[in-house]
Amino acid sequence: MIKKALLALPVALAIGISAHADTTKNPEDVLQGLLDTNKSSKYLWQSEQNLMMMADNPALWTIDDGKELFHTPRGPKNVSLETCDFGKGPGVLKGAYVEMPRYFADTGKVMDLETRLVHCMMTIQGFPKDDPAVKQRHGATSDHMKLQTYIASESNGMPWNPSLKHPLEKAMRDAGEQMFYRRAGKLDFSCATCHSRDGKQIRASVLPNLNQQGEWSKAISWPAFRVGHQDVRSTQHRVRGCYWQMRQGQIVAGSDASIAIISFWTDAARGQPAILPDMKR
Ligand code: HEC
Repeated sequence: MIKKALLALPVALAIGISAHADTTKNPEDVLQGLLDTNKSSKYLWQSEQNLMMMADNPALWTIDDGKELFHTPRGPKNVSLETCDFGKGPGVLKGAYVEMPRYFADTGKVMDLETRLVHCMMTIQGFPKDDPAVKQRHGATSDHMKLQTYIASESNGMPWNPSLKHPLEKAMRDAGEQMFYRRAGKLDFSCATCHSRDGKQIRASVLPNLNQQGEWSKAISWPAFRVGHQDVRSTQHRVRGCYWQMRQGQIVAGSDASIAIISFWTDAARGQPAILPDMKR
């Protein structure tokens, strides 16, 4: 009886957290759905332990930290982020993340979540760009990871659906496609070298295939807790790692290039459910 109650505890906590994020499913249920519909995916099925650990995903606590931070008046102007528009109107977070990157008329730019957050922290809250709140982008103790994890969690289980209505959105997506397939650098790799066939492996890791939408949906589900890093990581952090992995020039977070690759990879998972936050090895 006690054992049963203890086992249920993490689940109850996870449900509690996602309930006040007002999502109908837990991230592990979303992953289970992807497993059920992609029975032959070596990538998705490679780690039973990953699924088992998801109810205790430490990133679930990061959501709570982010929620508190989002609604707290902060910065030189002492206001909260509640008037920040992530594309669906000021303060509307539900489903905003799965529609990003998108074009914002107030900046005339296509922006991803991180870039938009920087914009709001600087314009609405008045943070200077070298303030740690803006500058520190990595790790669960950073304001950025807290806020990004909270905002993204409000899209858990929803289908990726980045906007492609504006010509710039389309141009960024297309530029990202070029980047994905273009071989460069001293290793002459492209992203496609490792991510365009089923069951490709580096040592024990099975790599996701961009052409398998179900696999790709999990691959781009960030923020995620990376067990190997013991920390929560962002989409931009993943992009940086990919370029490092190819030994190509370091990509700049928030640059058009970084947003272009994210536009392309999000479009590639269109219609598939997002796991937010995810847990990775
Ligand atoms: C040399 C092979 C290689 C190349 C080239 C490469 N990657 Fe990866 N990619 C990996 C490995 C290895 C991982 C980590 C897998 C793991 O941790 O289990 C990974 C992880 C990822 C993930 C997250 C997958 C997950 O399971 O969460 C994404 C998304 C991704 N890469 C995209 C890209 C993009 C975009 C590029 C090009 C800019 C790229 N990769 C280039 C090998 C590669």
